[in-house]
Amino acid sequence: MNNKEISVIGLGSMGVTIARLYLEQGYKVTVWNRTAQKADALVAKGAVLARSAAEAVRAAQVAVMCVYDYRAAEAILAMEGVAAAMDGRLLVQLTTGSPSDARDAELWAHRQGATYLEGAIQAAPDQMGQPDTPILMSGAQAVFREAEALLKVLGGGTVYLGETASAAAAMDLATLSTIYGTLLGFMHGARIAEHEGFDVAEFGRIVAGIMPTFAAFLQHEGSVIQSGDFKISQSPMRISVEATQRILQTAEDSGINTEFPAFAAGLFKRADAAGLGGEEIAALIKLLR
Ligand SMILES: NC(=O)c1ccc[n+]([C@@H]2O[C@H](COP(=O)([O-])OP(=O)(O)OC[C@H]3O[C@@H](n4cnc5c(N)ncnc54)[C@H](OP(=O)(O)O)[C@@H]3O)[C@@H](O)[C@H]2O)c1
Repeated sequence: MNNKEISVIGLGSMGVTIARLYLEQGYKVTVWNRTAQKADALVAKGAVLARSAAEAVRAAQVAVMCVYDYRAAEAILAMEGVAAAMDGRLLVQLTTGSPSDARDAELWAHRQGATYLEGAIQAAPDQMGQPDTPILMSGAQAVFREAEALLKVLGGGTVYLGETASAAAAMDLATLSTIYGTLLGFMHGARIAEHEGFDVAEFGRIVAGIMPTFAAFLQHEGSVIQSGDFKISQSPMRISVEATQRILQTAEDSGINTEFPAFAAGLFKRADAAGLGGEEIAALIKLLR
């Protein structure tokens, strides 16, 4: 994998960026996309446009795929000649998918005689190729080690999560869950600020200020869950039982939307009723199990 040849399949905004980064590092880059015109700018910079997906796979030892979703990826992998061309090559799947998508894709690749790595890009196209660009990777360790230099072109923040191919997709989904949970709470918070007549941009700045501390707090709670020791170490569950009830009560009193606090307060109330009130807040996971 030191011969600096790579094929990039899928030229959406992410795929174009991936191909450009390899060109900039002096790779011979072969590209293929369902809509061929999207390759024009890359071809002008030296990329080779394959006439078919199979031709693209044959052109290099490594094929990086990054398309809209796994249904699109499966459609491409089912195209004429692609499966046969995979034999002996490495498929790096950077399309975002579910853990089961990743498991199926690895099985498919192995059946064709190919090796497989799964990746989840946790950055936007214009953040790619930076020393800290976060990309989660999983799959056979020996394959990852061999491809490591090639993957570093996409970002220096590559995290290898182990041999189980679905790990990258699972951790990516878990990260997204955190983002959406935080976002929902932020939206309700914005509604409180707005309803009380305060500057929502100022609220945004306050939240940004607490994020480093909040991140450290979440990291601690993750370690508590992993350790299984839920005795109070930072934040007793009971504080959150009361806090979420207060957010709900305030929403009801003010007549603003109650969906988010009703959900959150309901969960903490059930945790308290289950006898978890005197444990670390991370014990909420026992309710979710
Ligand atoms: N963009 C981001 O900020 C970002 C960040 C992290 C991860 N990702 C992930 O990266 C992947 C690609 O994202 P993107 O932003 O590049 O998407 P995009 O700009 O919407 O491009 C989608 C790509 O998928 C292809 N495609 C869609 N349906 C297809 C089908 N049925 N058959 C063949 N090709 C098909 C498109 O081909 P055509 O050009 O022919 O339509 C295009 O190459 C996604 O899984 C996304 O979740 C993106």
